Amino acid sequence: MAQLWGGRFTKETDKLVYDFNASISFDQRFYEQDIRGSIAHVTMLARQGILTDEEKEQIIKGLESIRTDVENGTLKITEEYEDIHSFVEANLIDRIGDAGKKLHTGRSRNDQVALDMKLYTRDEILELDSLLKEMLEVLLKLMKENLEVYMPGFTHLQKAQPITLSHHMGAYFEMFKRDRSRMKDIYKRMNLCPLGSGALAGTTYPLDREYTAELLEFDGPTLNSMDSVSDRDYLIELLSAMSTVMMHLSRFSEEVIIWNTNEYKFVEIDDAYSTGSSIMPQKKNPDIAELVRGKTGRVYGALMSMLTTMKGLPLAYNKDMQEDKELVFDAIDTTKGCLALFTGMLKTMKFNSARMEESAKHGFTNATDAADYLVNHGVPFRDAHGIVGRLVLYCIDKGIALDNMSMEEFKAISPVFEDDIYDAISMKTCVEMRNTIGAPGKAAMEKVIKAEEEYLAAE
Ligand code: ARG
Repeated sequence: MAQLWGGRFTKETDKLVYDFNASISFDQRFYEQDIRGSIAHVTMLARQGILTDEEKEQIIKGLESIRTDVENGTLKITEEYEDIHSFVEANLIDRIGDAGKKLHTGRSRNDQVALDMKLYTRDEILELDSLLKEMLEVLLKLMKENLEVYMPGFTHLQKAQPITLSHHMGAYFEMFKRDRSRMKDIYKRMNLCPLGSGALAGTTYPLDREYTAELLEFDGPTLNSMDSVSDRDYLIELLSAMSTVMMHLSRFSEEVIIWNTNEYKFVEIDDAYSTGSSIMPQKKNPDIAELVRGKTGRVYGALMSMLTTMKGLPLAYNKDMQEDKELVFDAIDTTKGCLALFTGMLKTMKFNSARMEESAKHGFTNATDAADYLVNHGVPFRDAHGIVGRLVLYCIDKGIALDNMSMEEFKAISPVFEDDIYDAISMKTCVEMRNTIGAPGKAAMEKVIKAEEEYLAAE
């Protein structure tokens, strides 16, 4: 048991207490951030004359050698240390002796852990952002390639009006684009450096907090030391933003699962992204989509846990906050994993365009357009609605689509119909007529695609 705080104690910590209290099993993840922060701290201490240049050099060399040895596996992070901070400091003292004992001057584990967690989270936000960007690139490609692939658009999971696959993918593009902008906002708001806040009330040493903030690429130092060591808002924001990413992925998964059923057959998931059944040889299951949908609950759970952990904490630091790590690490790993897998599945998925178009026709998705045709020929909309209702009833009875009715059949229900009705209710016309901004018509979609291309190039 290697502890930093034995002096005041006359008895050994109970083994169960030690294990309950220790965080090394999970905070070892940010050894790199802990070392990076320590290097910035001693660089500042030397510049302020609190350490000599020689001590600074020794400490930095020692810290760098620890980093290298952890990375190449010669130095193992073991459970004999309470946390990653103790591990780094103890190993530093082992390696360089007395100078190592000066590393923690003007610092507390409270501002240290606040810094490490911020550095770690900041790196992860950038990774989440680049995974979201990859997803957007795949979606944009699908938008470009499927401008004339017609499919039913749904409301209440009932076929409603025809859209294109391009337009459907475009809806997800907008969602993941907003997710990216949320990541950006969080990064900007959290990017202030807590180092130098001490345990809660700053320190008596003449620390240059602006300098350490700059060394660690923050926009500046935080402005209240009590808040600095007990602020976990940014983690709650990130968990919330990741929950939204997962909610989007889960909706998309649900659609893929439906589209992949025998009844729909809109898509075929690549063999590399599906699994079989141990008993039913015919099965090819959409497990990846199901797991992504399933894991959504886990990320929501982390958000609820974190909000609950924080709600009763008096200022400033309380050990409860140690709970942030496992929750946030797991939620980040889960979200990143789901994004990467879903993107891979989407990239390799085959879309059955003939089935999609057939389905749109047989779902009377062009019924609104048939009514609009009548309106354009002078029939009041309410009457047109009634006439098309009778057409639909007739077709359901005969098991055909509107497009399959003969001219006589049309005329028998309303003499207003002429030969041009077939063109007016073709999927192509139905979609092409919808060209307001954001609509599925090709011209409208092309404008959006151009704007989104520029957005991706600029980011
Ligand atoms: N493991 C602790 C955490 O994650 C580090 C800070 C410990 N500070 C303290 N005063 N016990 O929050």
